[in-house]
Amino acid sequence: MERTKILVTGGAGYIGSHAVVELYEAGFQPVIIDNFSNSRESALRGIEEILGVKVPLHRIDCNDAEALRAVFAEEGSLHGVIHFAASKAVGESMQKPLEYYQNNVGSLLTLLQVMREFGVEALVFSSSCTVYGVPDALPVTEQTPTKKANSPYGATKQMCEDILRDVANAPDNTLRTILLRYFNPIGAHASAKIGELPLGVPQNLIPYVTQTAAGMREQLTINGNTYDTPDGTNIRDYVHVVDLAKAHVVAVQRLLDQKGETVETFNVGTGRGNSVLEVVQAFERATGQQLNYKIGPARPGDVPAIYADVTKSVETLGFRTSASLEEALASSWKWQLALKG
Ligand SMILES: NC(=O)c1ccc[n+]([C@@H]2O[C@H](COP(=O)([O-])OP(=O)(O)OC[C@H]3O[C@@H](n4cnc5c(N)ncnc54)[C@H](O)[C@@H]3O)[C@@H](O)[C@H]2O)c1
Repeated sequence: MERTKILVTGGAGYIGSHAVVELYEAGFQPVIIDNFSNSRESALRGIEEILGVKVPLHRIDCNDAEALRAVFAEEGSLHGVIHFAASKAVGESMQKPLEYYQNNVGSLLTLLQVMREFGVEALVFSSSCTVYGVPDALPVTEQTPTKKANSPYGATKQMCEDILRDVANAPDNTLRTILLRYFNPIGAHASAKIGELPLGVPQNLIPYVTQTAAGMREQLTINGNTYDTPDGTNIRDYVHVVDLAKAHVVAVQRLLDQKGETVETFNVGTGRGNSVLEVVQAFERATGQQLNYKIGPARPGDVPAIYADVTKSVETLGFRTSASLEEALASSWKWQLALKG
């Protein structure tokens, strides 16, 4: 039987590569688009080694409408799209706002245009808990009002969400969309053949932790310990990337089954908040490594604490994460060792 084709933009990236694996294992035929602006071909080799097959790849930019049309035409029957492709560094977005708006908002507009031309009517969009800004109450539900974003990156995610809701609400709309608001993805595939690629100095906690444990960095700096949290360090909801990838399979299936509203939003997290110090301790427990760390100044723009209420994704999507924090951290460590080796 022919597999149902799903286009995965940004499929060579961190989350996209894991989603490609989960899609294929669930019986779909993923087709990757990537311009390798923040990934490497080695991710494709990793995917191939895990699955034992080559996944079709189109090396194009999602802002290039003609190139996108050529992919849609060549692939024929695409049943849906997962749009991961975006620029994602919050700090960099402050330096290069125009590039961020172009790449994140511009690429979505181009993609939507081409999807409409080719009658492709199912879209899963990568949103982020950054849309909540600094929430008034925790945990955040999908009903928690969004606040003005702290960065151009966060603003692009809010704008993309607004665009998708407006499109869905237009009278002649035929597009069905699921917006997944990711919390903090960590970890790597159990095979350690794909994972998060460290390009430059890591901006996220876990690559910093694993690189410090591996001796590539002298010391982990914890950004502030005077936040209004039990131990003073930031609290986040760390979700294993394989769990997150599986949420996309569930979302795609829901769209293809034509269940639910034309546009739906779901938090994807564990529902647990862990502080930076708890992560450090969990990493030490999970790996037996001792971490050299110090407390540094708080980073401007960091939200003190955020974690997800996952009631809606459990009850409506039937999706629940399964990995513990320790399991996720152990997989990050295994990936770090594989990268080193
Ligand atoms: N990683 C996180 O912490 C996190 C949290 C919330 C939301 N997200 C969102 O999830 C999505 C995937 O994130 P990720 O962590 O896998 O990032 P990533 O950078 O690893 O993956 C993105 C991929 O898209 C590609 N890409 C970027 N712009 C492109 C373009 N114009 N055309 C074609 N390919 C392009 C990059 O080369 C890369 O392979 C992004 O939309 C990101 O904003 C990520």
